[in-house]
Amino acid sequence: MSQKRIAVIGAGPSGLAVLRAFESARRKGAEIPDIVCYERQKDSGGIWNYTWRTGTDEYGEPVHASMYRYLWSNGPKECLEFSDYSFEEHFGRPIPSFPPRAVLHDYIKGRIERNGISHYIQLNTAVKSVTYNSDTDKFSVTVKDLKDDTLSTSEFDYVFGASGHFSTPNIPEFPGLDKFTGRVLHSHDFRSADEFAGKDVLCVGSSYSSEDIGIQCYKYGAKSVTFSWRTKPMGFKWPESFSELPLLEKLEGKTATFKDGTKKDVDAIILCTGYLHHHPFMEDSLRIKSRNRLYPGNLYKGIFWWSNPKLMYIGMQDQFYTFNMFDAQAWYARDVVLGRIKLPNPGEMMDDIQKWTRDEEAVEDASQAIDFQTEYVRDLIKPTDYPRLDVDGVARMFKEWEHHKMENILTYRDRSHRSLLTGTVAPVHHTPWMKALDDSMEAFLNQPQTKQAAE
Ligand SMILES: Cc1cc2nc3c(=O)[nH]c(=O)nc-3n(C[C@H](O)[C@H](O)[C@H](O)COP(=O)(O)OP(=O)(O)OC[C@H]3O[C@@H](n4cnc5c(N)ncnc54)[C@H](O)[C@@H]3O)c2cc1C
Ligand SMILES: NC(=O)c1ccc[n+]([C@@H]2O[C@H](COP(=O)([O-])OP(=O)(O)OC[C@H]3O[C@@H](n4cnc5c(N)ncnc54)[C@H](OP(=O)(O)O)[C@@H]3O)[C@@H](O)[C@H]2O)c1
Repeated sequence: MSQKRIAVIGAGPSGLAVLRAFESARRKGAEIPDIVCYERQKDSGGIWNYTWRTGTDEYGEPVHASMYRYLWSNGPKECLEFSDYSFEEHFGRPIPSFPPRAVLHDYIKGRIERNGISHYIQLNTAVKSVTYNSDTDKFSVTVKDLKDDTLSTSEFDYVFGASGHFSTPNIPEFPGLDKFTGRVLHSHDFRSADEFAGKDVLCVGSSYSSEDIGIQCYKYGAKSVTFSWRTKPMGFKWPESFSELPLLEKLEGKTATFKDGTKKDVDAIILCTGYLHHHPFMEDSLRIKSRNRLYPGNLYKGIFWWSNPKLMYIGMQDQFYTFNMFDAQAWYARDVVLGRIKLPNPGEMMDDIQKWTRDEEAVEDASQAIDFQTEYVRDLIKPTDYPRLDVDGVARMFKEWEHHKMENILTYRDRSHRSLLTGTVAPVHHTPWMKALDDSMEAFLNQPQTKQAAE
């Protein structure tokens, strides 16, 4: 019998979790299929790669990055810590709870490099098409070598879709936007808050991008920040120069009018209006079509494409949990591929999808959303050998973090949390976040050892 083959699309945290899961089984003596991971960017780490570019890259490919300079983790690192690789192991000492982007990128890559897993990855290689042939029961994957400008097609028994879903901007239209005389951009193209110093900034949207970009602009000197919400305001205790208004209705010159009739002159509009699930390389019958939600449809266990479970999607849900949830998914999917876990029949799979979807639809607030995702991760981890992850501890920490944000949205990143792996309470960062203007790894790690940690 010929060796089975797996294609993994994307070397972000989700794709890398798949590589790590299989490699971990191989090291314990299992025979694993041939694996190739195609990554369009020149480095692994997914959206954690920073680039100054917006629009298209040097090869004409869409720029994947939605991260910006000065982005710091918006959740405690202790909530996303890999169960098989602690931050302490990576950095050789405890580090504060809310690291900047470069530090998390280093951590993600560190697990891969130190475990000799990079050889599975083909960088600068964009997947252009994935089709399935029911006669041969194989997927055809066509890729473009971006450096050589050549196309090639290979056959695979399994495909993992791990291409992320926070890179294709959702861009609504507002009357008068075409004639607005200030700057308009989507959060996907936001790179540096410096350019908004002294400006009146309007952020449309009331989720994480809006919250964080608005605060970034304030931190780097914006004159005022206005948030505009569609469903409900964020409701944090904002500093004086902030306001939250209902949805933007129209623009006349630089004057924005909101649904409640309020008018405000603004210099820049940042559309923090989320992202589209956009996977154009997938044949229509294989393509996930979803809004950003905790349980996208047609995915058994949030992973297996119901009508063809040899296609598996990793990381396609809205996310409280991130890195360790991708691990949980990867370990489970690996065990299905290796025959250690048997999938039920299609009817049973659909019943299970519908049960989880009903539970998701009953979720009313952030606390229940955390509980929902906690149960999801618990369910995945149970039958695998993923090292023990204390999901109840993670859920508790997420809820504490939510409280800290409600107490003070500008200081929640100054808090310290306890690692569920090592038991260590993170040291306090040497500089309060609002004053920490240098987001480099060197500045962050330049931590005097004397600072007292306090939970
Ligand atoms: C602005 C922003 C800030 C965030 N901040 C945090 C945070 O602080 N903490 C946190 O835990 N999470 C954060 N996240 C969530 C983030 O989505 C996850 O941390 C994680 O990066 C998701 O991993 P992924 O591998 O699923 O997707 P991605 O990280 O998006 O990686 C997908 C990979 O697939 C590749 N790819 C895409 N299409 C193709 C193709 N056709 N061919 C080949 N390769 C392809 C991409 O180049 C990319 O490398 C943030 C997200 C955004 C947008
Ligand atoms: N590390 C960090 O600090 C950081 C920073 C930014 C983002 N992130 C991450 O990035 C991911 C994406 O976050 P996101 O905020 O970009 O997306 P999101 O969570 O999907 O939120 C999208 C927002 O856009 C609004 N919206 C959508 N269409 C709209 C329209 N037509 N008009 C007005 N408003 C509209 C939504 O409003 P409704 O509520 O009405 O639907 C919602 O508030 C998250 O995982 C987040 O954690 C992290």
